[in-house]
Amino acid sequence: MRAIRYHETGGPEVLQLDDVDVPEPGHGEVRIEARAIGVNPVDTYFRTGEYPPAELPMIPGSDVAGVVDAVGEGVEGFAAGDRVYATGLGNDRQGTYAERVIAPTGLVAELPEEVSFAEGAAMALVGVTAWQALVFHAELEPAEACLVHSGSGGVGHVAVQLAAAAGARVVTTASEAYHDHLRDVGAHAVLDYRRDDLADAVRAAGPPDVILDTITNEYFPFDAEVAAERARIVGIGNTASEATVPMGPSKGKDLRFQLMSMYNTDDTRAVLSRLARLMAAGTVVPEVARTYPLAEASEAQRDVLEESFLGKLVLEP
Ligand SMILES: NC(=O)c1ccc[n+]([C@@H]2O[C@H](COP(=O)([O-])OP(=O)(O)OC[C@H]3O[C@@H](n4cnc5c(N)ncnc54)[C@H](OP(=O)(O)O)[C@@H]3O)[C@@H](O)[C@H]2O)c1
Repeated sequence: MRAIRYHETGGPEVLQLDDVDVPEPGHGEVRIEARAIGVNPVDTYFRTGEYPPAELPMIPGSDVAGVVDAVGEGVEGFAAGDRVYATGLGNDRQGTYAERVIAPTGLVAELPEEVSFAEGAAMALVGVTAWQALVFHAELEPAEACLVHSGSGGVGHVAVQLAAAAGARVVTTASEAYHDHLRDVGAHAVLDYRRDDLADAVRAAGPPDVILDTITNEYFPFDAEVAAERARIVGIGNTASEATVPMGPSKGKDLRFQLMSMYNTDDTRAVLSRLARLMAAGTVVPEVARTYPLAEASEAQRDVLEESFLGKLVLEP
């Protein structure tokens, strides 16, 4: 089968199209014939070595949507022919940029007929991240005010919809070009993250009880400044630099800061199943900004960090 692999860490050019053996599913695993594969910033962190890859050569990628074509011993609830999607791969095991992908069933859920493979691949990692941040860590409640930084990003555009579906009043930040779309999918207010008076504008929209911070490092002082008393702030940003929590406003307002990794989600399958229901109902719809053939994975990884787009980039083998 064809698979994208890197044999050494480095820039996008280390990704190459290899011909490799079709892997066999082990105990508790399924093999998925990939129809769509999500591209995430974290795929590039493993490729550069910023996050150490599990082994070399390595197939990158966390997300896949496709059809089960083989099941391993002890697998219950999945059979050949099932439409599924999965996330959490490419971390401690080989990833998803390939024609066939092995996944433990705990990371796999059924993909309803109403949802395309591209949408499933677009949703998986960012949907589980947004769920883990807003529902599990922040315990977001109806009628609370929720600030989502970077509302046009992969995580952001799903988080906006998820928070709105939970009954929160959502404020988000994004470049001007994406404001109309984000209002259409549930944001109460959309603010350009470049404006000088952003903190005032957020406070004027209502101090947030919950903040999903996709940048984290330099934004924690901002979050502390705008947050409501007893706000819960969840930081998911890249780990490249250190986040500083300002003591004054954080103590004064009893703020709770939480850092998290999507890979630590306890029950990925259950979260994916709930997200699938929301997608099938049209309540939370991931946006596929662009698709690429598998062979153009290096271009997609370049674009995910360097280009501006709304939603997700997806590979189609
Ligand atoms: N901890 C975890 O488990 C976890 C999980 C998923 C993602 N992440 C991390 O979270 C971050 C976002 O991921 P993603 O998949 O959503 O990335 P993405 O799709 O590339 O989106 C990045 C977003 O950030 C916006 N942005 C750029 N500069 C900004 C600024 N100064 N202030 C506010 N927004 C800004 C971009 O908007 P424009 O295009 O308009 O500039 C874009 O909407 C990444 O660092 C990723 O590694 C962590």
